[in-house]
Amino acid sequence: MSRSQFDELPQVYEDMFDLDWRVQLEMHSVLSLIGDVTGKSVLDIGCGSGVYSRRLNELGADRVVGFDASEQMLAHASRIEETKRQGIEYVDEPPLSDPGSFDLAIGVYVLPYAENYSELVDLCSIAGRTLRPGGRFLTLPINPDYDPRAEYYTPYGLRMLDTEPRADASRVRLELRFGRYQEDVIARYWTRPTLERALHAAGFDSIDWPPYRVSAQGISDRGEQYWRPYLDCPHAALIDCRKS
Ligand SMILES: C[S@@+](CC[C@H](N)C(=O)[O-])C[C@H]1O[C@@H](n2cnc3c(N)ncnc32)[C@H](O)[C@@H]1O
Repeated sequence: MSRSQFDELPQVYEDMFDLDWRVQLEMHSVLSLIGDVTGKSVLDIGCGSGVYSRRLNELGADRVVGFDASEQMLAHASRIEETKRQGIEYVDEPPLSDPGSFDLAIGVYVLPYAENYSELVDLCSIAGRTLRPGGRFLTLPINPDYDPRAEYYTPYGLRMLDTEPRADASRVRLELRFGRYQEDVIARYWTRPTLERALHAAGFDSIDWPPYRVSAQGISDRGEQYWRPYLDCPHAALIDCRKS
């Protein structure tokens, strides 16, 4: 496996789930959209430290496979699996030899790391090829209309900076600023038509962009006002699509 900018970041991504934004808004929205996973087989594309994979297993998924390109992310997720023994499979190659065997695929913040259109289609096609007909893919790219003011997202633990004019595959610096962490990641911006074109090319026909919702816990802990700016203009979009 080649070196990845994520190899140094497993603990950062693990600890990011201390942020209310990730748990009470993003994860709450994703899991609410997914609904009941009991008995389902799920592929977590770009599983990172494995937080979603573990949660989906705890919620009753029958089979969870976490796929990631970063050796260190997989090592971190596998170490937790050795302790918890949930039966999650972590793999460094997409399970393409199992076509049509998954009910659900998620790709949380993985599409922003495709560096060109062909890689974007390849990532979407992992879901397209491994899902059964009618299977669902939930994915979170950078919001094509995210707020251009770098400070807009600081209340949630991050800053976003266009490092070049916005266009397909243009670089965006994501500055993770929370707890003791100050880490930067370079992500790629994709326009809405290009994201939809890539998803269509990967075999998805119905493509929805549902809104986020905050959990009752999130509202009671932080108040409506805290969430308003993010809900008005999230840094990432939520895409929910189905395989034809
Ligand atoms: C921003 S992290 C998100 C991790 C996790 N999904 C989460 O929500 O915390 C992006 C992850 O995608 C992985 N990744 C990036 N490009 C990938 C690719 N082409 N194939 C598989 N994984 C990839 C990275 O190694 C990294 O772990």
